[in-house]
Amino acid sequence: MEKNVRPADMQRITTEALANAFIEEQVNLMRNQIGNNKVLLALSGGVDSSVVAALLIKAIGKQLICVHVNHGLLRKGEPEQVIEVFRNQMDANLIYIDATDRFLDKLAGVADPEEKRKIIGGEFIRVFEEEARKLTDVKFLAQGTIYPDILESDGVKAHHNVGGLPEDFDFELVEPVKLLFKDEVRVVGKALGLPDNMVYRQPFPGPGLGVRCTGAITRDRLEAVRESDAILREEFAKNGLQGKVWQYFTIVPDYRSTGVRDGKRLWDWPVVIRAVNTKDAMSATVENIPFELMTHITSRILNEVKGVNRVLYDFTPKPCGTIEWE
Ligand code: XMP
Repeated sequence: MEKNVRPADMQRITTEALANAFIEEQVNLMRNQIGNNKVLLALSGGVDSSVVAALLIKAIGKQLICVHVNHGLLRKGEPEQVIEVFRNQMDANLIYIDATDRFLDKLAGVADPEEKRKIIGGEFIRVFEEEARKLTDVKFLAQGTIYPDILESDGVKAHHNVGGLPEDFDFELVEPVKLLFKDEVRVVGKALGLPDNMVYRQPFPGPGLGVRCTGAITRDRLEAVRESDAILREEFAKNGLQGKVWQYFTIVPDYRSTGVRDGKRLWDWPVVIRAVNTKDAMSATVENIPFELMTHITSRILNEVKGVNRVLYDFTPKPCGTIEWE
């Protein structure tokens, strides 16, 4: 059997019992592979890397070193949740790096979306590399590669923009979920006790909120993206749309319009809401959100988010609009 090919008779993991059997098998395999050595993992807090972390913690405990890089473009509460779940609850060896200033300084004045992606991806690798170089006795690198990554790319976790570590590292790879589909990774994550909002979370692009704060990123507009996104997520969760709508988020374009508040003229940004459904992200349809909910979210954003004077809904399917705005 080829190493990266899912056997035709491999059972789909759909139940907790099947997930537990998978977990036990992987824990044994990883213990044999790793022995007493150390393993490094870039832990983003996304489903795949979180499940890999939880599996490795179960298998080798503190021999795993997780590195969580906060590039300043994460959603509200994400870095805190990674620390809470992995360091506080699972007692993992977690290095947390707040690299916000470093990323935002590099991105200052850069408006081209692909240039922004390159900077974010490249800087991420450099921050991770610097940490890896401080740790001298690490033999393995764990990765949250899943089966679609293997099918769609050349077997390397497709981060769109992130290259790889320099070749002199020569790590051996540990990829325990590489033959699983996303829905199976979620079942395994649930069986490992990870929180629902980690296991069932919507896709989030590597460059994070950076591609939703269009054009050149500024800290105040980025804050408006983060706060409006948090309100949207909270309201979707309260109203039974979390887990039902495939991807939903806000965008703050680099554009101002006039408004009025308390008799004073404003010159502020709009917040655009996007909520779409898709199977494979190649095409997408727009979610039909109840009008009352939209007006409620609008009113919350206008009252709670600084620098915003309009809320718009993006009715564009893909094609011809992409899901993200950049
Ligand atoms: P588009 O905007 O191309 O997005 O319709 C399709 C899906 O891909 C995600 N996306 C990205 N994910 N790095 C990522 O990891 C990126 O640079 C990136 N750009 C888009 C997007 O969120 C959607 O789910």
